[in-house]
Amino acid sequence: MPTHATAADELAAGLLLDTPTISPKFLYDALGSTLFEAICELPEYYPTRTEAGIFATHGAAMARVAGSGTTLIDLGAGNCAKAASLFPLLQPRQYVAVDISADFVTDALNRLQQRFPEIGMLALGVDFSRQLPLPDTVRAAQRLFFYPGSSIGNFAPDEALAFLQRVHGACGDDGAILIGIDLEKDHAVLDAAYDDALGVTGAFNLNILRHANALLGADFDVRQWRHEGFFNPAMSRVEMHLTARSGHTVRWPGGSRHFAEGERIHTENSYKYREADAVDLLARAGFTDAQVWTDPERWFAVIYARGAAA
Ligand SMILES: C[S@@+](CC[C@H](N)C(=O)[O-])C[C@H]1O[C@@H](n2cnc3c(N)ncnc32)[C@H](O)[C@@H]1O
Repeated sequence: MPTHATAADELAAGLLLDTPTISPKFLYDALGSTLFEAICELPEYYPTRTEAGIFATHGAAMARVAGSGTTLIDLGAGNCAKAASLFPLLQPRQYVAVDISADFVTDALNRLQQRFPEIGMLALGVDFSRQLPLPDTVRAAQRLFFYPGSSIGNFAPDEALAFLQRVHGACGDDGAILIGIDLEKDHAVLDAAYDDALGVTGAFNLNILRHANALLGADFDVRQWRHEGFFNPAMSRVEMHLTARSGHTVRWPGGSRHFAEGERIHTENSYKYREADAVDLLARAGFTDAQVWTDPERWFAVIYARGAAA
């Protein structure tokens, strides 16, 4: 997790940009992680169930190429449920759950350890957006980086490449990646997925302001803001914003910003890829021998690729 000072500096800098911005990593405190779990249950939120369907159909094939006894490093593990569902197939030797939402992932991992006492487990509460610090307690052998849920889409394409290059750099001679990537599809499906009828995604988005209040000491009044989530076809990404319901000033120690009525804070992008572009991105990051599995509608792809040629 970023230190409070670092997080506060980053938040203040983002709020003072011409287009005020809060990084999506700040969506995830303990409440944000719980709200994301609820999002995964929504009928509109197809990514989780579509990806789960791909694992159910092709998990055995994935396990065959990955091999057993891996060091399974789950990037943005959240409640660790996806990795745990693959344990019987993957049979990892060590499971490392990495997440910025440190308390949430630690609680989840401690529960998981009770169910799988034979697997060595480690929770790391770190922000991996700029570097990927892995302590020596993470086995160097057979690293399998697991990055599901299309979290890669939260990075702009150049950031995604840099992130994957860092992952590739941590693969060693025998490492690999198993990544879930959301694909381009009907815009109405995308719009609904990020602006659901129950308003859970809205609550998730608004919670970023409560988190900013805690980290920055800001005085955001959540009631002054409303959620927007929609697909931007020109950028091939879903965008989430918070829009000021009325003009007002937000203050924090050492700074303030006036928001006009209708002014937005940009809180998340979720880039959607074409299958070939996703494979190309992995290749440009140094990965080889990509194998792609998709669902029948080709809404989502799970890709396995090696750090070094076999
Ligand atoms: C979209 S959720 C995916 C959760 C889970 N892996 C899944 O696929 O359902 C993104 C996860 O990544 C974590 N996360 C987001 N930004 C992060 C960062 N910069 N460093 C570490 N974890 C991050 C969040 O806390 C959250 O658990």
